Amino acid sequence: MKKLTAFLAALVLCAAVLPAFAADAVSSATLNITELPEIRENPDAKILVIYFSTDDTVKAAARTIADALDADVFEAVPEIPYSEADLAYYTNCRADKEQADSSARPAISAWPDSMEQYSTVFIGYPIWHGQAPKILYTLVEGIDLDGKTVIPFCTSASSGAGSSAKNLQAVSAGEAEWLDVTRINNRSTAEDIRAWALSLGLEGEKTMKMMIGSTPVEVKWEDNDSVAALKELAAGGLEIRMSMYGGFEQVGPIGSRLPSSDVQTVTNSGDIVLYSGSQLVVFYGSNSWAYTRLGHITDKTPEEMKTLLGNGDVTITLSMD
Ligand SMILES: Cc1cc2nc3c(=O)[nH]c(=O)nc-3n(C[C@H](O)[C@H](O)[C@H](O)COP(=O)(O)O)c2cc1C
Repeated sequence: MKKLTAFLAALVLCAAVLPAFAADAVSSATLNITELPEIRENPDAKILVIYFSTDDTVKAAARTIADALDADVFEAVPEIPYSEADLAYYTNCRADKEQADSSARPAISAWPDSMEQYSTVFIGYPIWHGQAPKILYTLVEGIDLDGKTVIPFCTSASSGAGSSAKNLQAVSAGEAEWLDVTRINNRSTAEDIRAWALSLGLEGEKTMKMMIGSTPVEVKWEDNDSVAALKELAAGGLEIRMSMYGGFEQVGPIGSRLPSSDVQTVTNSGDIVLYSGSQLVVFYGSNSWAYTRLGHITDKTPEEMKTLLGNGDVTITLSMD
């Protein structure tokens, strides 16, 4: 629900800040917000941008979307490339014939390795005679879109997107949530397209990453105000110079006071706590004191923690990624 609220807020912002873009550069008004599914429930699931392009217009848009959303890209390359003559429309060229033939399914030279890891799939294409090129039909019949959110987008010389995406959806395998197609106008700049992609609220949730010296460690962070404040500091990159103490911990100044809710705590190896509101403490042994729990390192044994922290002072780096 948070995603939906963020999406709606972004749309309102977009309409207010980018009237020209919303009105004519990209027809984002066609996005069907009343039936918007809850997209990217799983923040670890990835985004794939699939496109077909013969003259780089769709390709450029696809690259911009992928850059903005840190998504993977897959180009649907025809087994038999389209020559210039094949694309000379209204000359009864190959493309004209394919578009007029409801059974035409031009072969694709390679397929995505796997669709499993993707929760959201953009599908981009040029408009050919008011519809998606037939190679897109080959594509959506051949990949598994079941359970995914599909975001179609297209470019054209002047026509609207019309029924192009609905007709693709009709032949597509599996049950997917298709958003209404967005036509990217020829006058749209990369910045317009980027703003539109970001307005969809699809970016993965950032997580706080921790390094002890040069060793990355997996942390299960607590869901509390102290960790929220620490994440804000980590967003700018935070280095904490730690010092060994007591044969069981390393402690270092965060450089700011964080909200705290100290309670008497028995700590274990791998625990990360806030001490005195402004000190980060990481344990390779055990202690009993009043702390605010911040998290726990989940991928290191007590021996590994001792090796990491028990051999001299370290620097801890926190970042958002
Ligand atoms: C076979 C063919 C048919 C086309 N039909 C239309 C059309 O019906 N309406 C339109 O506005 N543009 C049409 N176009 C133009 C393309 O949609 C437009 O140039 C598009 O942006 C090309 O994208 P691309 O550079 O990624 O290939 C057609 C182009 C071709 C090659």
